Amino acid sequence: MAPTITVVSWPEAFAERYEEWSAAMTADIPFYVRLARETEDAVIELGVGNGRVAVPVAEAIGRRVTGIDLSPAMLALARERAVATGVELDLREGNMRELVVDQSAGLIYCPARALLHLPTWADRRRTFERVAASLKPGGRFAWNAFAFDHRIAAGIDGERQNEPVPHVVRYAVADNRVDITLDDGATTSLWWATKNEWLGLLDVSGLELEALYGGFDGEPLADDSREYVFIARRR
Ligand SMILES: C[S@@+](CC[C@H](N)C(=O)[O-])C[C@H]1O[C@@H](n2cnc3c(N)ncnc32)[C@H](O)[C@@H]1O
Repeated sequence: MAPTITVVSWPEAFAERYEEWSAAMTADIPFYVRLARETEDAVIELGVGNGRVAVPVAEAIGRRVTGIDLSPAMLALARERAVATGVELDLREGNMRELVVDQSAGLIYCPARALLHLPTWADRRRTFERVAASLKPGGRFAWNAFAFDHRIAAGIDGERQNEPVPHVVRYAVADNRVDITLDDGATTSLWWATKNEWLGLLDVSGLELEALYGGFDGEPLADDSREYVFIARRR
């Protein structure tokens, strides 16, 4: 029987290892940079974390990027990174479910599967509604999320892995949840969603699908794609 863990979507303790955890994650940055370059209006990142994406986006567009995150520890990392790079981030502590903006945005984006840290469909519906209300007409919402693959799950469930930092992944299939536990005990959980759940969220929130790719280079979504890369638009 799998050990019982306390389910937490994003604990502060994970922040200490996030720089290491995300160091090799670079493939998504040009994708989000390209979208940000295509708007002259405000750009907002949900779950901005350590600024891994927001900093190169702000650098590329030469303008401030707003970043929302629940975690003070992650926001502190983003602040350090922005100062070190000399870019301006407007960092706000808050829940993406409660997104409120000063001016309607041209682009809202959510990299690194961060929408999967929302535990319920109601959390996601609320987030999508707030995103739709925060975009200009025609403004875009982009995000990526893994496609659940039972073959991957079967291969790694409960197995210790060393990269990018030592950790164990456990799947709670009945709760469509993945728990990642680092060796120091920090645990974060993600709740996966199917393609039709994502499309349903667009449907109920007044957004429409612009594109759905199977990768950050615009690869078509195929039956064996492992990542959903979505671009939606406010009607
Ligand atoms: C996987 S990290 C992604 C960080 C960064 N966006 C990146 O691409 O590397 C997920 C981030 O989402 C944040 N987060 C989780 N749930 C959130 C919520 N409901 N509202 C705002 N931020 C949230 C976490 O604190 C964490 O910083």
